[in-house]
Amino acid sequence: MPSKNFAFAATTVYGFEDLAALEVEQLLGVKAEPSIGKLFFKAPLSAIYKLNIEARLLHKVILLLWRGEVCSLEEIYKAARQVDYASFLAPKQSFAVRADRFGTHPFTSMDIAAAVGQAVIDSYRSSTGVRLKVNLDNPDVEILCQLRDRDFFLGINTTGESLHKRNYRVYDHPAALSSTIATALIKLSGWSERHLLMDPMCGGGTVLIEAALLARRTPPGKFKKSYAYFKLVFTSLEDHQAFLKNALKNSQQREVPLLGIDKSAEYLQGARANASSAEVSDTI
Ligand SMILES: C[S@@+](CC[C@H](N)C(=O)[O-])C[C@H]1O[C@@H](n2cnc3c(N)ncnc32)[C@H](O)[C@@H]1O
Repeated sequence: MPSKNFAFAATTVYGFEDLAALEVEQLLGVKAEPSIGKLFFKAPLSAIYKLNIEARLLHKVILLLWRGEVCSLEEIYKAARQVDYASFLAPKQSFAVRADRFGTHPFTSMDIAAAVGQAVIDSYRSSTGVRLKVNLDNPDVEILCQLRDRDFFLGINTTGESLHKRNYRVYDHPAALSSTIATALIKLSGWSERHLLMDPMCGGGTVLIEAALLARRTPPGKFKKSYAYFKLVFTSLEDHQAFLKNALKNSQQREVPLLGIDKSAEYLQGARANASSAEVSDTI
């Protein structure tokens, strides 16, 4: 796998960007620049596997294609038009653009998505002669872009559905804590695995399950069945399997002191089902 560095963005929980930057630094050994609800960093392409499989605080890992300041929809089109998409999309692949916008602008996020979509088509056609297909429901490649005031970036979603959906959850508590927030709280609490962690209002058990997985070094990727990068032309299933196998090697079936209480028997039953699905019921 080439070790050249690429620019990345990763989205995370608002307010926990510093903690997420630390996680990226620990996993990849590179400095990450925290921003609002996201981070920026440079890393080899292998970061796609490592972060998607092992990160506990990230939501989406994005391979950055353009980042800078823009003042208008025309500048957004120009920025997106400059990118050479031929290295990232095969001629037969379909794509969709999803845009987020924060701040006051005389256009909507739908307008941004349309401008970027047109720029992708125009750029690809001029370098390859092929008109890429758009598929808004089930694209092969999802291009994410975000405009916050004047700051704009666009890139390829390597994750797919947000990593905070851990896939072990078989019972949906009506007020379940997000897995990434639960992990951030555990880390901020300074909890050491040798001490009892008790959640007196454990609901569906997110805090306890995340604490067990963290203490056992079990990668969240153990439970995730598919990633957007499975469809990307510059990643491979063999590399994914090698990274997953390596991450699972560090997992230890150790005893972790965890206790959950809830006033609702139904919620406790749900928490037990989630813990069993996450293969940690032996220690909660
Ligand atoms: C927001 S949920 C907790 C989420 C949970 N900590 C997690 O990790 O996902 C709040 C829970 O507190 C429980 N609860 C509320 N009052 C309680 C009380 N007095 N004693 C025990 N549990 C209580 C509710 O039944 C509910 O399941």
